[in-house]
Amino acid sequence: MAFEGKVVWVTGASSGIGEALSRQLLDRGAYVILSGRQTVALGRVAANAPQRALVLPFEATNWDALPDVVDEAWNWHGAIDILVNNAGISQRSLAVDTQLPVYRALMEVDYLAPVALTQLVLPRMIERGFGHIAAVSSVAGKIGVPLRTGYCGAKHAVVGYFSALRAEIESAHGIAVTVILPGSVKTPIAINAVEGNGERRGRSDPNIERGIDVNIAAGSILEGIAEQRREVVVADGMEGAALQIMRDHPEKLYEITRQEGARLANMRNDAGPGMSLDSDHARLVQP
Ligand SMILES: NC(=O)c1ccc[n+]([C@@H]2O[C@H](COP(=O)([O-])OP(=O)(O)OC[C@H]3O[C@@H](n4cnc5c(N)ncnc54)[C@H](OP(=O)(O)O)[C@@H]3O)[C@@H](O)[C@H]2O)c1
Repeated sequence: MAFEGKVVWVTGASSGIGEALSRQLLDRGAYVILSGRQTVALGRVAANAPQRALVLPFEATNWDALPDVVDEAWNWHGAIDILVNNAGISQRSLAVDTQLPVYRALMEVDYLAPVALTQLVLPRMIERGFGHIAAVSSVAGKIGVPLRTGYCGAKHAVVGYFSALRAEIESAHGIAVTVILPGSVKTPIAINAVEGNGERRGRSDPNIERGIDVNIAAGSILEGIAEQRREVVVADGMEGAALQIMRDHPEKLYEITRQEGARLANMRNDAGPGMSLDSDHARLVQP
C-alpha cells in the first residue's frame, strides 16, 4: 500500500517513533492526523506539510473526550485509512519498589487507550469496508524483562488484544492489523518512563542511547505497514535474537533474564531501595 493520499492517524506524534513516522508519512504524501498532549511539538511536525496535517491534541486516557476526538479525526477527510496506535510510556522500577497506581497508569496509557481508540474507529472502518489498524507493542510485549513488570504486562496485553482482533476482522471485514515489536530505539522513551513512585525518570538508558536510529526504525515500521504484515519486528542484534530464543528455547531465555534480575537485585541491595537502576537489554542474550 502506498501512503500517498491516504489518511493516517498517528498517536504519540509529538516525539520519538511517532514523530518520525509522521514526518516520513508527510514526506510520502499522506494526510496525517497528529495526536499527543504537546500541542506545540505536534505543530512543529505539522509545519512540514501544513495542508496535509491535522493537529489533534488529546490525552489518550480522557475516555469521555475520545468520541468527539474520533469524530473530528474521521470528519477531516471523511475516513481514516490507517490508525497507528503508537502513544505509550515505559517504566524503570523493580516490582518491589512499584506502587499499584503506576501499574494502573501503565495499563491505561499503553493498553486501554489504544483499545478504546480502536473500538471507536473500528465500526466506521467496518461500515466503510476498508481500513488498517497498527499497534506499537515492544519486544517487551513478548518477553518479560526486569524493571518493566507494568510495561511488559501492558505490552503483552497489546499483543493479545490486537492478535485476537486480527483473527476477527482480517477476513470477515477486510481490515488489516499490524502489531509492531520494536527493540531499543533511540528516543526519549527512558527519560519519559515512570519510576516506582510514579515520577518521571528524567534520564536515558545506555541501551536506549545505543538503540536503532529512530528514522531507520520508522522506515522499517512503514515498510511493514505498507506490506500489511501481521507482525513487524524492529530489533537488531541481541534483541532480535532474544525473540528467536524465546520461541525456540524459552528456558534459556528465562535463565538469561533471571541473571539480569539477580544483578539488578544486588545493585538495589547495595544501594538501597528507590535508587535509579539501569537495565541493559544487550545483557539478556550474552552467552
Ligand atoms: N523507544 C523504544 O526503545 C521503544 C521500544 C519498544 C516500544 N516502544 C514503543 O513505541 C511507542 C513510542 O515510544 P517512543 O520511544 O517514541 O517514546 P517517546 O519519545 O517518549 O514518545 C511517546 C509518545 O507518546 C505520547 N503519549 C504518552 N502518554 C500519552 C498520553 N497520556 N496521551 C497522549 N499521548 C501520550 C507522547 O506525547 P505527549 O508527550 O505529547 O503526550 C509521545 O508523543 C510507545 O508505545 C513505546 O512503548 C518504544
